[in-house]
Amino acid sequence: MNRTRPVIAIDGPAGVGKSTTARVLAQRLGYVLVDTGALYRGVALAARDRGISWDDEEAIVTLSGEVALSLEPGADGTPRLTIDGVDRADEIRRPEISAGASRVSAYPGVRRALLDIQRSLGRDGGVVLEGRDIGTVVFPDAEVKLFLTASAEERARRRARDLQDRGMTADKNQILSQIRSRDKADSTRPIAPLRPAEDAVILDSTSLDLDAVVEHVLELVRSCDSSGSPGGSTGPTVG
Ligand code: DC
Repeated sequence: MNRTRPVIAIDGPAGVGKSTTARVLAQRLGYVLVDTGALYRGVALAARDRGISWDDEEAIVTLSGEVALSLEPGADGTPRLTIDGVDRADEIRRPEISAGASRVSAYPGVRRALLDIQRSLGRDGGVVLEGRDIGTVVFPDAEVKLFLTASAEERARRRARDLQDRGMTADKNQILSQIRSRDKADSTRPIAPLRPAEDAVILDSTSLDLDAVVEHVLELVRSCDSSGSPGGSTGPTVG
């Protein structure tokens, strides 16, 4: 695949800082940002709107093929999820929708339905996609692949702060137990489980600040620009 600008794939568990890292990177590089988790969250929220149980696989898969999910640039340029044309970007962040997204993302039919959307958003490069299986399934040929990790405690702390910043209440212990159960569900599902691609650079961000993580990825992008080869194939494993 000859793209003039790279596809940057950022994968990792819940609350690790993928969204913030991806947003800053996209701003710095002038790339499009694709938050793929928002699409799974959109399916979960659309199901709740329609009174469909997250356990009803058949109905959820049908819904994921029918519902119009779109990522539209918001006032600050950050993409906002719309469902059937209506902005739902704030509602999809609620903790109960996180649980629903984890549930519906385990259905192979849902993953298939969302694959085409993700690929069409990234096809031309100049894009930062963040999710769980970008480097392994959605863009196995991504020029830059980063797998971010951090301890569950640190991730719970970051997620609690994020919710508070958005004016929502946050119980850190509850968030920690949700993170642990989502980690388990996301990494043990048979289809597209959460795991680093073989050629991903693995970065443990537990004690790294955002600038350090962003700088590291920019370095990978620069090395891929100059060599024309995937940043992760020769890159170090850091952390
Ligand atoms: O990144 P997030 O917390 O917004 O993701 C919500 C859920 O969607 C999460 O439980 C895992 C799932 N997901 C996925 O399975 N594959 C992706 N590419 C992105 C998210």
